[in-house]
Amino acid sequence: MLRSAVTGVGGYLPTEEVTNDDLAKIVDTSDAWIIERTGIRRRYRAPEGVGTSDLAVEAARKALDAAGRTAAEVDLIIVATTTPDLTFPAVAAMVQRKLGAPVGIAFDVQAVCSGFVYALAVADGFVARGTAKCALVIGAETMTRLMDWTDRGTCVLFGDGAGAVVLEPMEGQGTLDDRGILGFSLRADGTKQDLLYVDGGPSTTGTVGKLRMHGNQVFRHAVVNISEAITSAAKTAGVEIADIDWFVPHQANQRILEGVARRVGIDENRVISTVSDHANTSAASIPLAWAQGVSDGRIKPGQLLLVEAMGGGLTWGAAVIRL
Ligand code: ACO
Repeated sequence: MLRSAVTGVGGYLPTEEVTNDDLAKIVDTSDAWIIERTGIRRRYRAPEGVGTSDLAVEAARKALDAAGRTAAEVDLIIVATTTPDLTFPAVAAMVQRKLGAPVGIAFDVQAVCSGFVYALAVADGFVARGTAKCALVIGAETMTRLMDWTDRGTCVLFGDGAGAVVLEPMEGQGTLDDRGILGFSLRADGTKQDLLYVDGGPSTTGTVGKLRMHGNQVFRHAVVNISEAITSAAKTAGVEIADIDWFVPHQANQRILEGVARRVGIDENRVISTVSDHANTSAASIPLAWAQGVSDGRIKPGQLLLVEAMGGGLTWGAAVIRL
């Protein structure tokens, strides 16, 4: 059987670092409060004139290099984003043009912070059927552009960035030793829209809008839903939690990571956490953390990875991948 194997990973952060002290100059907050409640120490902001597609292209180039592939070989691009450069075309089509990739399939997936997990599952449908031979799955965001800079409950939490993986079809035996995506679990509950949303859009206000959130309620749903997604994805893949080498979570809040680890029985030493240095980069946070784990030598070929997220929608999900 064909599997979708991840053959390369890359991450990119924009150049402008924003510390907690920088934010304390514009809203009533402090470095100590932000660290204690979230674990976040800094985030990065895309400079004016740099769009989501620019961050995506940088991450894509790194992932292609890691996979030993060139843009000329890419036949599918899926970008998970909630902050597109323009309402249309899709960021994926812009990335195709900027990379110089040939005519192929390119579209965006919108599932907010869960977007990368959703996009991986969608790409699996193309790659494991043999429709795509070299796919780029990218999470890319400029979340700072959605911030209300007078709302201390949200503006301290988010940052910009991008991460990408290359997926290629690989023959497997249908066992847990196969390289590739072994299983996933996706969920959405639209009744929870009011907990986390952006208050503008083309068909309502005609504006981009600002992010609104009931943080403590989102927090509670995140711990419960992510735990459920992890258990469900592991069951679908046929693996035990103890078999998983690395958990690569969506990086929203260190306390969410710890709450999920406690609830599911995950050893915290097996959780890749970049929340302190990246903050919440929405759909970009998982591939950014994954790229960090690979570059610092923790994540190695052959290991079993579990990625998981929850975001606006609410949406949530998890996937199990053998590297
Ligand atoms: N600095 C100082 N005080 C603050 C700040 C801040 N940046 N933000 C909120 N406060 C204050 C509030 O105004 C409130 O003050 P009050 O008691 O005088 O009214 C007090 O802190 C407590 O507010 P809570 O919202 O109850 O604080 P909580 O401990 O829940 O922390 C936080 C807030 C950090 C937003 C937390 O709820 C959280 O991280 N939730 C998850 C949200 C999230 O990560 N969303 C991202 C998208 S979804 C996802 O990615 C999973």
